Amino acid sequence: MGFEVLTLEKMNVKTIYKVFEDAFTDYFVTFEKKPEMHIERWLSAGVDFALSYGVKKDQELVAFLLHAPREDFVMNLATGVRRDHHGQGLTGMMYQKALPDLRARGFLRTKLEVITLNERAIRAYEKAGFQKTRILRSWKGDLTDLTSSPEFRYKVLPPVLTAEHQGLIQHPYAFEQDQVTVTRRSGMLELHELRSEEKLCAYAIWNPLQMNLVQMEGEDEKALSTLLFRMQLQNEHVGMINVDEKKKVVNDFFERHGLKNFLSQYEMELVL
Ligand SMILES: CC(C)(COP(=O)(O)OP(=O)(O)OC[C@H]1O[C@@H](n2cnc3c(N)ncnc32)[C@H](O)[C@@H]1OP(=O)(O)O)[C@@H](O)C(=O)NCCC(=O)NCCS
Repeated sequence: MGFEVLTLEKMNVKTIYKVFEDAFTDYFVTFEKKPEMHIERWLSAGVDFALSYGVKKDQELVAFLLHAPREDFVMNLATGVRRDHHGQGLTGMMYQKALPDLRARGFLRTKLEVITLNERAIRAYEKAGFQKTRILRSWKGDLTDLTSSPEFRYKVLPPVLTAEHQGLIQHPYAFEQDQVTVTRRSGMLELHELRSEEKLCAYAIWNPLQMNLVQMEGEDEKALSTLLFRMQLQNEHVGMINVDEKKKVVNDFFERHGLKNFLSQYEMELVL
């Protein structure tokens, strides 16, 4: 006993990071021990520390839950419990305080993403009341066998998405790939478009530094192949994370053109 659940607005972010680093030691994917990288991700995704929770034991932080608000829901961007406190129900304890608080503040739902192999975390989230809503696939590898069809016109633009782009989206993007994130990170992103006559046939939101696709939509295989060819990505190593498994054109395209589905996540949701 002796646990205290609190919100994190007065907590030094480096203290949170230390618990994060301990919790994610021996994780499912290589954990980069770079505080700036993780803290920058949290802040740029809009973490609100007054809506985030922690557990203290003997005045020391031993667990945390980071939330970013968006419209009517809050996104969980990280959950971590120090390894010497695993299995003591601390995640449940934080949710017991968080859920009524968030409800009282008018939020309708809370969401998270969890690696499908992370059974311990899935168990903890299900105990708190979350349900799996969809599967998101992550891809990486060398793009092969791209061909370019001459009827398309190709253009690179600043990353401003309009209703025309949204018209091609059939499955909503996950939190860190959606329109709000694209707008927030626009300084480091590009929009690549492919048109036939005036009609938009494919587009990609591209991060040239990280060589990853943040968004990509296309009418069919031919349009996607031409788009990526004109982006000069033939035989380049690229990645795209969190592609809804129902997004058949894109998933099939990656499978046929050299990429591997190296990781999958469940999106989970709890109605407050
Ligand atoms: C996932 C995590 C946050 C769960 O926190 P927690 O407060 O320890 O969770 P719980 O105490 O509710 O335990 C959850 C399940 O983990 C399993 N578990 C508990 N202790 C364990 C231990 N020491 N070793 C292995 N499994 C354990 C149990 O199956 C338990 O379910 P049960 O209560 O039905 O038996 C924590 O394990 C953690 O920080 N993991 C590393 C980081 C991570 O994966 N974060 C989530 C990313 S989405």
